[in-house]
Amino acid sequence: MIDDLKKEIEGARQSFVNELEQIQSPEKLAALKERYLARKNGVISRFLSGLKECAVPEKPAAGQAINQLKAFIEQALGAAAEKHGAAVAGPSEWLDHSLPASDLPVGRFHLIADIQRQIEELFLNLGYEIAVGPEVELEDYNFTKLNIPEFHPARDEQDTFFLDGFDDQVLRTHTSPMQVRYMLAHRPPLKIISPGKAFRKDDPDATHSPCFHQVEGLLVDRGIHFSHLKGTLEAFCRSFFGQDIVLRFRPGYFPFTEPSAEVDISCFLCSPAGSLAQGQPSSSPAGPSPAGSRAQGQSSSTPAGSDPSCRVCKGSGWLELGGSGMVHPQVLLNCGIDPEEYSGFAFGMGIERVAMVKYGVPDLRLLYENDLRLLGQFG
Ligand code: PHE
Repeated sequence: MIDDLKKEIEGARQSFVNELEQIQSPEKLAALKERYLARKNGVISRFLSGLKECAVPEKPAAGQAINQLKAFIEQALGAAAEKHGAAVAGPSEWLDHSLPASDLPVGRFHLIADIQRQIEELFLNLGYEIAVGPEVELEDYNFTKLNIPEFHPARDEQDTFFLDGFDDQVLRTHTSPMQVRYMLAHRPPLKIISPGKAFRKDDPDATHSPCFHQVEGLLVDRGIHFSHLKGTLEAFCRSFFGQDIVLRFRPGYFPFTEPSAEVDISCFLCSPAGSLAQGQPSSSPAGPSPAGSRAQGQSSSTPAGSDPSCRVCKGSGWLELGGSGMVHPQVLLNCGIDPEEYSGFAFGMGIERVAMVKYGVPDLRLLYENDLRLLGQFG
């Protein structure tokens, strides 16, 4: 009995193979599958229902032989569907291998990291080194050595995150303490930029965030004067924002530079070079305002040629970039450098602010929400 069955199974296998060889279309393939595997009246199901005729001891071997045939058919049908699928398909289903590949998602730097890298590259090309300092900083370096005396408003608890149990340390409120660290450890000539995070107790809004990024610049050598600072920032801003950019230095106040200046650039969107008069810089887009600094003696007139409805400068014609100045002689002394022999300049820019200025991002918080639809538009 079992031998007869096995012969029958082998016969079915042979005819299946023969039929499969003839198949030319997916429809015929589907019909073949139906004939062999249909639950009702398929070849396999007929074999299975014939099992009950088998003697009990022969049932396992018979069942196994049927299952083997079923597995063989399924596997062969699967392979045939894959192999012949495209070939037997009609012309409308042909694959066009010349079509461009679909887009693969490619990672990229976050806008803030991207801007930081661009700034680094520009200053590396100007011969600067990159020095990175700690985010938890000695109060002495963050304030005292930078000539910020104990009761200066910048030390106010409002601005600074203190650390429980560490009386002499703070989360740095700016990257300027890196000036101190570097000058204590190196002798002039010095030429560094120092990018990184800074922290202030500000409520988040369109122009403030308790954690933000700055890049500090410091150059100390013999015979350094204000025009070196102007030339350096001008070279940077021109390559970064465009050759037509005009720079404006407004008197400002920082305890660690003297004289100090706030740096504005002409609005790249609406203010054509050369048409700029004295105007109030835009307060938005802006990064957190520099510690202890305030613009002084500004006229509120709008520069000729700027667009009163400009979304980038809000019609002022100017965009505020950061603070700068000549390193205060007391700071040089605090770091063991003789101010009679050496002088230097320093500057600090908010990286978010640079990003907002460069790309017209209206709200600083957008940079932290990590919405890929927004971030994917830059860089
Ligand atoms: N540290 C200052 C700030 O955050 C910016 C600055 C740096 C000003 C260097 C002058 C020189 O506000």
